[in-house]
Amino acid sequence: MAHSSIELAPQLDLARARAQFPALSQYVNGQPATFLDGPGGTQVPQRVIDAISDYLRSNNANTCGAYQTSSNTDQVIAGARSAMADLLGCDSDEIVFGPNMTTLTFAMSRAIGRELGPGDEILLTHLDHDANVSPWRALEERGVKIQLADVREEDCTLNMDDLAAKINSRTRLVAAGYASNAVGTINDVKTIVGLAHDAGALAYIDAVHYAPHGPIDVWEIKCDFLVCSTYKFFGPHMGVLYGKREHLARFTPYKVRANTDAVPQRWEWGTLNHECIAGITACVEYLAELGLHTSHVAPDALVLGGRAGAPCRNSRPAFVRNQRPGEN
Ligand SMILES: Cc1ncc(COP(=O)(O)O)c(C=O)c1O
Repeated sequence: MAHSSIELAPQLDLARARAQFPALSQYVNGQPATFLDGPGGTQVPQRVIDAISDYLRSNNANTCGAYQTSSNTDQVIAGARSAMADLLGCDSDEIVFGPNMTTLTFAMSRAIGRELGPGDEILLTHLDHDANVSPWRALEERGVKIQLADVREEDCTLNMDDLAAKINSRTRLVAAGYASNAVGTINDVKTIVGLAHDAGALAYIDAVHYAPHGPIDVWEIKCDFLVCSTYKFFGPHMGVLYGKREHLARFTPYKVRANTDAVPQRWEWGTLNHECIAGITACVEYLAELGLHTSHVAPDALVLGGRAGAPCRNSRPAFVRNQRPGEN
């Protein structure tokens, strides 16, 4: 009945939530501002603005120096990795920061692509954002064959039969979205990852559109890579990539010689956007707090970062996820 969906809807304290976003108190032409450009990203809460400006005011430095602001900067980056690891359900050294999802995906496609050539295939989908298509299509110049899984026109879902049929022993990577930015369809990414792995292929998941809407647990999905963009969920304009540690260690990035070979820093070249990285921690803390304020109403509805299970190692109690093997 219609009633049940109403009863299950999470009861957000909207006034409390809105009060945290200075942008929402603006007026345009004498009217309260309304922000309708969803794909353009979210506004940010005050704590994200504070974290960014506090960093610039008190800690502005480069990394790895023998002075206070530099070691503070190292801690800011380590803290943000830990926060994103909580959000996605992985370890800190599996988190890579970059300017946006598109740039990170081009970096990974170039690195993975240097091992591919004629006879290899990559499977993409017609449901995906071009940021998860063009970086892989670029490998056609190396002789890699690109396949595309169809969409069911009747309901805009991914045609899983077509996807399964297009995976074969030559498939080296399957790149698919977690949710479509165009039509909102949520894909069964766990099944897609399973199909890719059964064929010995890697699974690369674009979670940019899904991340603002639901919990992500990369260990449960078992994907090899997952990318998202923090500006879509109340954070600064940055991209974040999860990569299985073994892949981040084994694939070879195009990087400068001076860049460390440590994981995950070997995937982050030049100077990062430290102030925005400071903002990422504040953004994850905001989500954790939002989860604490709503989870009692609708179990699982807004508990971000995983499903019921053991509390994570870090300081964000709203994030719970399944235990990984070997964890107590
Ligand atoms: C589903 C999806 N993937 C990828 C992107 C690209 O993300 P970015 O702007 O971080 O490169 C977008 C941007 O809107 C998107 O909606």
